[in-house]
Amino acid sequence: MIKRLVRRGLRRLGYDVLKIPATQSLRFVPEPPPIEPIWPLPRRQQALSDDVIRKQFAQHPFWHYAYEFEGGLAFPTSHNNPGLDTDDSRRPLQRFRHFMPYLVESQGGTLEGKRILDIACNSGFWSIQCALLGAKEVVGIDARAELIEQANLLKSITGANNVEFRVLDFWQISPEILGGEFDVVLNLGFLYHVPKPLEALELTKRMARDRILLDTVVHPSEEFAIYLKWEEPCDIRMAAQEGVVALPTKPSVELMLRHLKFSRWVDIPVRTRDLPIEYLTRRRVSWLIEI
Ligand SMILES: C[S@@+](CC[C@H](N)C(=O)[O-])C[C@H]1O[C@@H](n2cnc3c(N)ncnc32)[C@H](O)[C@@H]1O
Repeated sequence: MIKRLVRRGLRRLGYDVLKIPATQSLRFVPEPPPIEPIWPLPRRQQALSDDVIRKQFAQHPFWHYAYEFEGGLAFPTSHNNPGLDTDDSRRPLQRFRHFMPYLVESQGGTLEGKRILDIACNSGFWSIQCALLGAKEVVGIDARAELIEQANLLKSITGANNVEFRVLDFWQISPEILGGEFDVVLNLGFLYHVPKPLEALELTKRMARDRILLDTVVHPSEEFAIYLKWEEPCDIRMAAQEGVVALPTKPSVELMLRHLKFSRWVDIPVRTRDLPIEYLTRRRVSWLIEI
């Protein structure tokens, strides 16, 4: 009632008050059972020795995720511009516990039998997790060849043979090039590295049959706005080419989802303080989107 009066008042003052229909943005969804990441990562029997793995890791100066393998072999993150909280080794594990339970629950409690696309897969953390969780087939794409080399190293250590990694620019993907649509598409940590978020979401939708897991930094404004900034490819977590990138606000992401006629989406709630700070401050948001 109060909300309706405020909206009417704002309309009289000439403001355009747009409401995302409650049926589209699902606020109250039951909390799914927790899921733990497969960690430390398993090592395929008779695969590479500790020494060989160490040498192969050392060939790459920069690693976006810290990796830990069975038997105590561990490697830290390493970035060109260190100091941000992306250097925290717990970060991908915290993100996993935040959004993966919602995805797995949406697939009937298991990824078994599913075909999954991991957009901007970096060194393959999410692809390998999905593969180890039983997905039938996982395809990870990233524009940086050195990251796909890293991902293939991870694949050979863990024996996750149901993953294929490809050097591919996001804008080149299509169902035709990647062998058809995917049950699930992961669009994680990527939307704010492109200049055209609406087109990027549209292409993501083209690739997906059932669900999209979207996780992105958002601008804190409450406006329906997209903020532009310049990005240099100065680090393995950044845009692959220099140029303008767009940082949408949370309302603008949801407006784009509405425009693209997704049937429903869940804004995955923050349920613990054990998360990277940008999730706690709502500067980063994850949605599970139903096609
Ligand atoms: C912040 S990282 C995100 C990694 C991972 N998806 C995650 O959320 O943990 C951004 C990734 O996007 C990749 N990338 C940037 N521009 C790209 C493009 N045009 N096509 C494909 N990958 C791109 C980068 O190489 C980097 O691996």
